Amino acid sequence: MKIFREPQKLQKWAKAQRLAGKKIALVPTMGFLHEGHLSLIAAAKKRGADEIVVSVFVNPVQFGPNEDYEKYPRDEKADLAKCKAAGATAVFFPTPANMYLDRHSVYINEEDLSKGLCGARRPGHFRGVCTVVAKLFNLAHPDFAVFGQKDYQQAQVIKRMVRDLNFDLKIYVAPIVREPSGLARSSRNSYLTAEEKGRALALSQALKSVSAGKSASQERKRIEKLLTGAGLVVDYVEFVDGETLEPVAKTAKGVCVLLAVYDGATRLIDNRVL
Ligand code: PAF
Repeated sequence: MKIFREPQKLQKWAKAQRLAGKKIALVPTMGFLHEGHLSLIAAAKKRGADEIVVSVFVNPVQFGPNEDYEKYPRDEKADLAKCKAAGATAVFFPTPANMYLDRHSVYINEEDLSKGLCGARRPGHFRGVCTVVAKLFNLAHPDFAVFGQKDYQQAQVIKRMVRDLNFDLKIYVAPIVREPSGLARSSRNSYLTAEEKGRALALSQALKSVSAGKSASQERKRIEKLLTGAGLVVDYVEFVDGETLEPVAKTAKGVCVLLAVYDGATRLIDNRVL
């Protein structure tokens, strides 16, 4: 497995692989890898990639001033071992200084799908995500990239960026991987105490309890009550069209239910497409 730290070195290698006719997959991550990330590598393998590049970069630009950039969990050694065992052929570990050169001044703003949900609660978040993902596409030259459905809005925003900026690659979205308890796997689960982990189960339980043909506003109230009753602080409960992310009045097939809560100091998100 190759290890790259310099963007230019990854770019040169990736270009050579493409010229040699290799199919490159990119799995962008912020590291502290778990089963969810490994499922993205497995999906890349299944889709026939010859080279699977996993990027591990806690991207400072997508964190707000009061968010967890500094304390975001990092474990380079474990990530390397997991990438190797999962079948990645290259890992990219850049530093903030070599991803964002002095006076970096170009950013990408998606202006439709990013407006609501996490985009409204985390100003600048998707600007940071789009910018770093576009840079990763330019460095790894992937034929396709795999993202997780856990970050549902992010996946839709990236697909729109690829469409609107004519990136020559495909985006695949892999299903959410859950712990046996139902809790969606996330690097941020490592922040949770045992008690908080217990409370977090209400997220997947709430999602499971939603069915089609109901009033979205009534369902929102019911779910907010359920989450609050479990001791969580609701950031949002939204029912949106799975493609446009516009709010819907009724639950139906193709509607996405998205939840964001605070469990103690930790913000957790989860979703389900009906
Ligand atoms: O989903 C993530 O881990 C990050 O937002 C991503 C896509 C790697 C960009 O930093």
